[in-house]
Amino acid sequence: MPSRRQILHVGASLAALAALTPWFPSASPAPRSLLKRPIPGSGEMLPVIGLGTSRTHDVALNDAALEPLREVLRALTNGGASLLDTAPSYGRAEAVCGALAAQSGLRRKLFLASKVSSTGRAAGQRQVEASFAALKTDTIDLMQVHNLQDTSTQLGLLRDLKAQGRVRYIGVTHYLDSAHERLFDVLRQEPVDFVQLNYSIGERNAERELLPYCMDKGIAVLINRPFQRAALFDRVRGRSLPDWAAVELGVTSWAQLMLKFILANPAVTAVIPATSNPRYMADNLQAGQGNMPDAAQRQRIIELFA
Ligand SMILES: NC(=O)c1ccc[n+]([C@@H]2O[C@H](COP(=O)([O-])OP(=O)(O)OC[C@H]3O[C@@H](n4cnc5c(N)ncnc54)[C@H](OP(=O)(O)O)[C@@H]3O)[C@@H](O)[C@H]2O)c1
Repeated sequence: MPSRRQILHVGASLAALAALTPWFPSASPAPRSLLKRPIPGSGEMLPVIGLGTSRTHDVALNDAALEPLREVLRALTNGGASLLDTAPSYGRAEAVCGALAAQSGLRRKLFLASKVSSTGRAAGQRQVEASFAALKTDTIDLMQVHNLQDTSTQLGLLRDLKAQGRVRYIGVTHYLDSAHERLFDVLRQEPVDFVQLNYSIGERNAERELLPYCMDKGIAVLINRPFQRAALFDRVRGRSLPDWAAVELGVTSWAQLMLKFILANPAVTAVIPATSNPRYMADNLQAGQGNMPDAAQRQRIIELFA
C-alpha cells in the first residue's frame, strides 16, 4: 500500500502537470483519450472533435489577432484532435489556418479540410490552387464542394486532384435542412468520401434519412453548426446542467452535452464546432471522451431543449 506521503507526492506531481498543460483547467480531470472513428472509405481513424473556422478565424494576419487562435490550435492538438475545417469563402480564415499551421510546426498533426465554391472547372482549379498556397501545403486532406455549387464539375476536378495525390479525400457540404434533399440526390449519384452537413439538438432532420444512408453506404460524415452558431446556448441560458448528465455522461457544460448528443449518432464521424476561445476548444474536446448518450438519454436531452 502506498504511504500517505507517497499519495500526497503523486497528487502534487499531477497538480503540477495539470498546471503545465495549457487550457485544461487543473480542476477538471486530465484529458482521457479522445474517441476516434474510422473514415469508412479507408479505415483511417479520425478524432471525433474538430474545429470549424467560419467567422472565428477571419482575423488580421498579425500577432495580436493570431495569438488566441494559436492557443486554440495548441489546445486542439494537445487534446489529441486534428481536424481543421476552413474555406476560401471565409474571408482571411484559410490564410490564417495556413499561417497558424506553418508557424506552429503542427501541419503534420492536422487533418486539413477546405472547400471549393466556384462555377466552371477553370475557376475551380484557380480557387483550389489558391487554397494550396493559402494553406501552405502540398496536400489537402479533404477538399469539399461547398454548398453544392456546380457540384458535378467541381467533383470531377477534385477526383483528378485525388488521383494525383494532392487531395486525399473528397466530399460535399451544405448547412441547411432545406438542402438535404439535394444533398441526398448528390450522394446517390456521385461517389464521395465525405459529406458535411448540419445536425444538432436544434436541427434533427438529418437523422431521419441522410445519416442512416451515409452509415449504410460507408460515407464519412462531418457535422457543421453543432451549436447553430451559438444560438442553442440561448435555449439553456441561466439553467444548470441536470445532475444525471454530469453523473451518467461525465459532462461539465451544455456545450459538451450538445456535442455528445450529435456524437451519439453512429453515422457521425466527427463534429466541427468553431471557436476563437482556447477554453471553449478544451471544453469541446471533453465531449469526445467517455460515455455517449444511449437512446433513453438522448430522449432526455431532447426534452431539455424542447
Ligand atoms: N456550408 C458549409 O460547408 C458550412 C456551413 C456552416 C458551417 N460550416 C463549418 O462548420 C463550422 C461550425 O459551424 P458554425 O461556425 O456556423 O457554428 P457553431 O460551431 O455551431 O457555433 C460557433 C459559435 O459557438 C461558440 N462556441 C464554441 N464552443 C463553445 C463552447 N464550448 N461554449 C460556448 N460557446 C461556444 C463560438 O464562440 P466564440 O466565437 O466566442 O469562439 C461561436 O460563436 C464552421 O466554422 C465551418 O467550418 C460549414
